[in-house]
Amino acid sequence: MSLFFLLLCIPSLSNAHSPDFRRMPPNPFLRRSNVPPEGYYNPLDKGGSMLTQVPVTFPAGLGEPLNAIISGFSDSDVLKDQETDGGLRNYFLSFGYSSECLGQHLGDDQAANLGDGNGTKNETAVIRWNYGDPQLGSCRETIEGGGHFRFWVQDGDDADSGALFLAVSYELPLSLQHDIIPNGYNLGRDWMIGNATSQSSLIPTTELTNASTYSGQTSFDGYTYQTDVKYVSGLLSNSSNGINHYLSVGTNGAPAIDGLIAVMQVKIVSRPEKSSTIRISPPQSLRLLSCLYALVAVAPLLSLSL
Ligand SMILES: *[C@@H]1O[C@H](CO)[C@@H](O)[C@H](O)[C@H]1NC(C)=O
Ligand SMILES: *[C@@H]1O[C@H](CO)[C@@H](O)[C@H](O)[C@H]1NC(C)=O
Ligand SMILES: *[C@@H]1O[C@H](CO)[C@@H](O)[C@H](O)[C@H]1NC(C)=O
Ligand SMILES: *[C@@H]1O[C@H](CO)[C@@H](O)[C@H](O)[C@H]1NC(C)=O
Ligand SMILES: *[C@@H]1O[C@H](CO)[C@@H](O)[C@H](O)[C@H]1NC(C)=O
Repeated sequence: MSLFFLLLCIPSLSNAHSPDFRRMPPNPFLRRSNVPPEGYYNPLDKGGSMLTQVPVTFPAGLGEPLNAIISGFSDSDVLKDQETDGGLRNYFLSFGYSSECLGQHLGDDQAANLGDGNGTKNETAVIRWNYGDPQLGSCRETIEGGGHFRFWVQDGDDADSGALFLAVSYELPLSLQHDIIPNGYNLGRDWMIGNATSQSSLIPTTELTNASTYSGQTSFDGYTYQTDVKYVSGLLSNSSNGINHYLSVGTNGAPAIDGLIAVMQVKIVSRPEKSSTIRISPPQSLRLLSCLYALVAVAPLLSLSL
């Protein structure tokens, strides 16, 4: 197990000469002309599913709900998977979520079929609550648990909406194998939406209906985003059927998920006068140091779980 963590540090060194994701050419998500009125295509219409595929579950074949969607009517800049120009990763940062710890990808990929003709695809990325620290906070989430989500883009030729489908949940610490907290799909979704719409109080999860809406603004690196959220029913069922960790997630006799999906429409309402160039990714030497630091921090947890 500790060997595993040491191995995590190796890419910090070996990647020293490869470009990080922000310098790679962005995925060319073009502005779509045929986005349906909902802002996405229903994956179920063309053989897809609103549940992810988790590699190993007991019993086999369980999945996690795709319980939030960033609508294809969002600004095309927001739908671009990049941190520059107010892109998707900068939007995530505006409400406290960062890309994975030190660029390390931890854990098994989940897969999803969005019914867009591309078939079953691994997640594009895992994004984690950063505890107020855009650079290193997602490391803390990996170790201590917390809010996180995986996302996929619906851009195949059969359903090219450009919408993003998110599987959001709130997980327990690494030492507890990252299980999901009780009611952790609904709560993870609503805490994320609470942050993305700058709510001053918690969204009342048990009172939500398919008529609930929330709106608010967030900012990062000079970009301000307006997020309008509408909860919709009908795509996911209000039940525990097929839901991973359903036994521990369902509480007080309620099913593991309430069947609601938060559909987010995101607009950039202001931009910096001249695009600034904040580099949130620490330099290589700092990465290595932090990785060693993380090892020391995680050591007591490991001895606990051994
Ligand atoms: C998806 O991820 C798994 C590891 O989690 C990997 O074994 C598999 O090759 C990946 N599939 C694709 C198509 O990249
Ligand atoms: C889906 O297919 C389209 C068209 O072939 C391609 O441009 C796009 O990159 C694919 N998306 C993913 C997530 O693989
Ligand atoms: C924002 O997210 C954090 C971490 O998940 C959570 O503790 C907090 O309650 C959320 N805020 C709102 C308003 O939901
Ligand atoms: C909203 O939910 C109610 C009760 O579950 C249902 O009857 C109605 O059809 C739903 N409306 C929409 C627009 O999905
Ligand atoms: C889900 O079903 C439960 C009963 O199992 C019900 O109390 C609750 O109101 C339903 N929630 C939604 C959002 O429809």
